[in-house]
Parts: sequence; structure tokens; C-alpha cells
Amino acid sequence: MTTPLERLLKAQIAMAGPLTMADFMSQCLMHPDHGYYTQQTVFGAAGDFITAPEVSQMFGELIGLALAQSWVAQGRPADAIVVELGPGRGTLMADMRRATQSVAGFAELPVHMVETSPQLRALQAAAVPGVVHHDRVEDLPDRPLFLVANEFFDALPVRQAERTPEGWRERQIAVVQDSLTIGLSNPVPLPDLAHRAADTTPGDVVEWCPALPGIMAGLAQRIATHGGAVLIVDYGNWRSLGDTVQAMRSHTYVPVTDTPGLADLTAHVAFEDIARAAPALARSAMTPQGVFLERLGITQRARQLARGLSGAALDAHISAHRRLTHPAEMGNLFKVIGLAKTPNALPPGLDPAAKGI
Ligand SMILES: C[S@@+](CC[C@H](N)C(=O)[O-])C[C@H]1O[C@@H](n2cnc3c(N)ncnc32)[C@H](O)[C@@H]1O
Repeated sequence: MTTPLERLLKAQIAMAGPLTMADFMSQCLMHPDHGYYTQQTVFGAAGDFITAPEVSQMFGELIGLALAQSWVAQGRPADAIVVELGPGRGTLMADMRRATQSVAGFAELPVHMVETSPQLRALQAAAVPGVVHHDRVEDLPDRPLFLVANEFFDALPVRQAERTPEGWRERQIAVVQDSLTIGLSNPVPLPDLAHRAADTTPGDVVEWCPALPGIMAGLAQRIATHGGAVLIVDYGNWRSLGDTVQAMRSHTYVPVTDTPGLADLTAHVAFEDIARAAPALARSAMTPQGVFLERLGITQRARQLARGLSGAALDAHISAHRRLTHPAEMGNLFKVIGLAKTPNALPPGLDPAAKGI
């Protein structure tokens, strides 16, 4: 099956040469007419994948309370805003707002969201009335930010390079026998990968996200000046190694260059790059999601909610708790990192940086 976006990409490659993986991902996800996020309902059981806030309300409730605690620890700044990057259907923020109703002052703070997809903006505005939308992180106001980003960074396009005996070669998308095909460029100098000279050998593939440093620097500058806290939840590891770009359609992995615009494309997040881009801030260690949620009291909350349930609803609730926390499900694959001006201002539940990476 040839998708409309595939035809456009082939024409573009014929005119201007191969695309970097980041350019390819960017068009597949965000093309104004044929991009994955701009054209369909992607989340939830009926969509192509399910994210933590869609698994259970407990996820958003606990994240909301963790950010509220950081706000209290910072003296309850009245000019603060609550922010989410890439909020999907808006479920996480709706759960955060409900759970923090009892934290006087926090519940009234304005909500800002950074979202590029007009379709998703409409769903978010329905879930969180009064939300203020922005196209880019740079457009957020200069105020204390209490910010969450769940599965946002994994949706940002990455470039990829393979180390060879002749130096780095970039992985690119070309057209071979009328098919989109991944190949390697001629050797190119890649200053962004200077720090990877020591820990890679020929054959290794590494990835980097060109948009990440600018986004993190913008957040770090605001937090260093005005205060606030950032919680980033995503799947990935400390340092990138190997090709992690994957395409998912209807809960199934498909080849990355198949059906452009119809499959979700993601890459694992390298948490080291988040930390490197915000050197002025205090940070936590990269903490497994399961450990983080257990420390925030997910099991007590699960028991409380279970009291009102029976039959299939109770079974679904029990399996949602397991799904979010169990090491064999999302508990270990997903990681959390917190950033703030000082260690005392970090949200609770995270490993201290001194103990881990
Ligand atoms: C995988 S979804 C995560 C959804 C949500 N956080 C959740 O947990 O259900 C990625 C979200 O980021 C948005 N997004 C992707 N790239 C973006 C960008 N460059 N700027 C703003 N939003 C972006 C998508 O439209 C979508 O809302």
C-alpha cells in the first residue's frame, strides 16, 4: 500500500536527495495534511497505542500531587503556571486538576499546554476548559513552571549515525527500486557526537534529538530565573546506543518506512541528553516509573479505588495498577527524571542524583 505521504516523500527525495531520519519522522508525524498526529485518533484502546494516563487515572493524580508538593515547597508562588508538553487527549492534566482540588492555590493556577496538532488541541480544550495553548516551548510565559511531559520527547524526531572505520555516516531515507529504503551517507563530521568517540566502536548506531537541547535550555532558563519544577516521563535509557526508532500501527510494530503517516514513529529518549542540556538545574537520578509511582503511594490509592469496584471493572483496575508499575510491563521500561532550581524543590518520589545516573 502506498500512502499519500509516501508519494510526496518520494517526489521530495527525487528532487532534493535523501532525507535524514529526523526529517522523515517529522513529516510522518506532523505533516499538515498527512501527518500521523494531524489526522487520526491515535490514543487509547481503539488507537495505535495506549499511554500511562489512559491506562489509569492514578497516573495523573499522583503526578499532580507530586508537582503540587514541589509548588508548596517553593513557597506557593501565586504567579506560577501548570504546564504540559504534548498532552495527547488531555487526560493526564484533567486527572492532575481533579486530584489537586484540595491544594488551595494550586488548583486555581492557569494551565498552559504546548501542542502542535489542531485536532489534539480541541480534545485537550474539552478535557481542560480554559487551557492556554502554545506552539512551542519558547512561547511559554516567563513565570514559575510546574511542568509535566509524558511521552513527549519520544515523539520528537531523531537523527541517527553509524560509526564506521571511516568515521560517522548518517542513516538516511532514500528511494531504491521505488521503495523508501534506509541507507548510509558518505562519512560526515558530526560535532554533536564528539562525546561518543570513547564509548562506541564501528557498527554502533547512535541517535540524537536536534530539538531537545533548545527545548531544555528554554525550560532551564525559566526555572533558574523564576523557579518551578519539571517531571519528564518517557521510555528510554541514560545514553543512546542502537537504532531505537520504531513504528507502531494498531498495537503492532511495523517496518519504519512502511505506511508513512499512518503509523506512530517514536525513538527511545536518552535521559543523559536532558541532563546535559540543563546543567544549571538540580536534577534527580533517572528513576524507574514503577519505583516512582510506588513511592508516591499508588498501591494505597489503588486499594482506595478498588473499594468501589467489582467484577470486570475491578479486574481492569488491578491489571492497570500492574501495568503501570510492574517491572515486566511499564514499570522499568519507562523512566522519570525531575529538574528544579535546588534539590529541595524537586518533586517527591525520585532517586537522588548522587545515588544513580
Ligand atoms: C505520544 S503522544 C503523548 C500523549 C500524552 N502525553 C499521553 O501521555 O497520553 C505525543 C504528544 O506530543 C505532541 N507533539 C509531538 N511533537 C510535538 C512538538 N514538536 N511540539 C508540540 N507537541 C508535539 C503530539 O501531538 C501528542 O500530543
